Amino acid sequence: MASRGSQTVSFLLFLSHMLLPQVAKCRAGISAVIVFGDSSVDAGNNNWYPTPLRSNFEPYGRDFFGGKPTGRFCNGRVGPDFISEALGLKPAVPAYLDPGYSIADFATGVNFASAGTGFDNATSDVLNVIPLWKEIENFKEYQQRLRAYLGEAKANRVLTEALYIVSLGTNDFLENYYTLPDRQSQYTVTEYGDFLLEQTQNFITEIYSLGVRKISLTSLPPMGCLPLERTVDLFQNFDCNEEYNRVAAEFNVKLKGLGIYLNQNLPGMKIYFSDLYYLFLQMIQEPATFGKLPHFIWIAMHHPFVSILPFLFICFHFYALLFIRNCG
Ligand SMILES: *[C@@H]1O[C@H](CO)[C@@H](O)[C@H](O)[C@H]1NC(C)=O
Repeated sequence: MASRGSQTVSFLLFLSHMLLPQVAKCRAGISAVIVFGDSSVDAGNNNWYPTPLRSNFEPYGRDFFGGKPTGRFCNGRVGPDFISEALGLKPAVPAYLDPGYSIADFATGVNFASAGTGFDNATSDVLNVIPLWKEIENFKEYQQRLRAYLGEAKANRVLTEALYIVSLGTNDFLENYYTLPDRQSQYTVTEYGDFLLEQTQNFITEIYSLGVRKISLTSLPPMGCLPLERTVDLFQNFDCNEEYNRVAAEFNVKLKGLGIYLNQNLPGMKIYFSDLYYLFLQMIQEPATFGKLPHFIWIAMHHPFVSILPFLFICFHFYALLFIRNCG
């Protein structure tokens, strides 16, 4: 136990050394961290929504403050928590639906994400999670509450100077397209990706009209290497699914292009594309490059079937690393 703890600490120290010199540059002007997305960033909203897709039990949360499961699909904190801390804001961004928090807590960061959701409305229906349009509705309600709490002018300043993290898309492919018959009968996988990009564009345009100006747009991960995909790949020696990885890489190129296009066409918009794909792949293939990993993470990467919970994401500082690099 002690040894697991100290390994975790050395891993965190290692990462903070990489991060710290650049953090100062990014701090200026970011008032709050506001999150839209799926299980890659959900901080526990699903606990307060009538869905079976929850992670409010152990071993989730074992490396979180107090070692408690929070609803994050993760051993500890998720990317936006690390980014928030790196920006000098609070160390964990609370879930909007959690009644334990008030608008005072949400004034420097709030999380609307819902595990299992996607850009496609049909994806959130699969496990009855919060659809993306409903995340926007919650955001609108939050804006009103914030204006009532801080006053119009101050609230508007917070909303304009916030960093918005957008992280979803994996479920559209894995939980919806490759699992259910409907979308497959309508679209080839490339066409489906293009349909998702259309939804992404609509989503970003809508939040832009609500005042959003700084977005960290997260790439898809090498989704063929997620623990679930490797666990079900029994006959392939638990290897990554190459087809899913190829689809993710192809989608990412277009997503990055969409970000550039929207930066040119929405005045004042700044979209940073956070390309986690190759960093994630490198971490799986050459973990030694990243220093000594906590034992628990190592086991899950090398023996995915040992992490019996298929949705247990092992959460690194990826997001923080990339965001900080981008704003340097
Ligand atoms: C998704 O659902 C919302 C709410 O019903 C609707 O406004 C929106 O048009 C739908 N999107 C698509 C692409 O069907």
